Amino acid sequence: MEYIVYEQKGQYAVITISREKALNALNSQVLAELDQTLDAVNLDEVRCLILTGAGAKSFVAGADIGEMSNLTKAEGEAFGKKGNDVFRKLETLPIPVIAAVNGFALGGGCEIAMSCDFRICSDNAVFGQPEVGLGITPGFGGTQRLARLVGPGMAKQMIFTARNIKADEAYRIGLVNAVYPQEELLPAAEKMAAGIAKNAPIAVRNCKKAINEGLDLDMDKAVELEEKLFGDCFESYDQREGMAAFLEKRKVEAFLNK
Ligand code: CAA
Repeated sequence: MEYIVYEQKGQYAVITISREKALNALNSQVLAELDQTLDAVNLDEVRCLILTGAGAKSFVAGADIGEMSNLTKAEGEAFGKKGNDVFRKLETLPIPVIAAVNGFALGGGCEIAMSCDFRICSDNAVFGQPEVGLGITPGFGGTQRLARLVGPGMAKQMIFTARNIKADEAYRIGLVNAVYPQEELLPAAEKMAAGIAKNAPIAVRNCKKAINEGLDLDMDKAVELEEKLFGDCFESYDQREGMAAFLEKRKVEAFLNK
């Protein structure tokens, strides 16, 4: 792979988008490599992922403007689908994905971060959807996920004005969960990933599914989905061990993902 670095560290792994000379902008090759990387994650071993960008300046500065500049309407739509398909794969991956946003997260960069389960960022991070200043709409899910994450009013303001926001404002509006000094960002993400990986994997996966899929359902159907996923945890080794450990006043030996 030319633009993606994948590093498994025990029970979690770090995916780094590494096209630093273009501030990690997403061209078709980066998207294709990311797609292959997601397909290759060993879900028997890896229980949490971190997504970040190479270098100290940028997470992802958007979709590649050079590649998009002369597209036809049909090609533009197809490019949008290419990004959306990969981002949807990321969003629906069975295991949690933490976006560690280490700088510019603009356009497709903000959109890929929003396809992760949650976001933490460095204090130099900048978020925004600058597309209308380029004559296009956000095309990798920004109109949909930003509105769901920060509410339609704030999403519309950000998208219509194309105004970038800094880390503290992203935190204030709930786009990121926490802000760290740059050098502490990845260690914090790794600590979180390791903490998630220690919990019962089937339960964590079912929580992700319940939240993601439940948000698209009415409450009656949503709680029904929760009941099924709750029930699905029972009879697992990890459920028996987790509860036995509590009752026997001891620590869980290990969750075995079974
Ligand atoms: N596409 C292609 N190349 C990009 C890029 C992008 N989105 N963002 C940065 N680059 C390239 C620059 O062209 C430059 O390359 P050269 O050295 O070959 O000239 C290199 O990265 C460094 O960038 P700058 O010199 O511009 O760095 P800077 O520090 O002056 O500015 C920046 C940084 C503010 C992030 C600026 O690069 C910028 O505004 N980038 C574009 C951000 C943007 O508009 N993103 C949205 C794209 S549209 C989109 O994403 C659509 C969608 O929803 C699918």
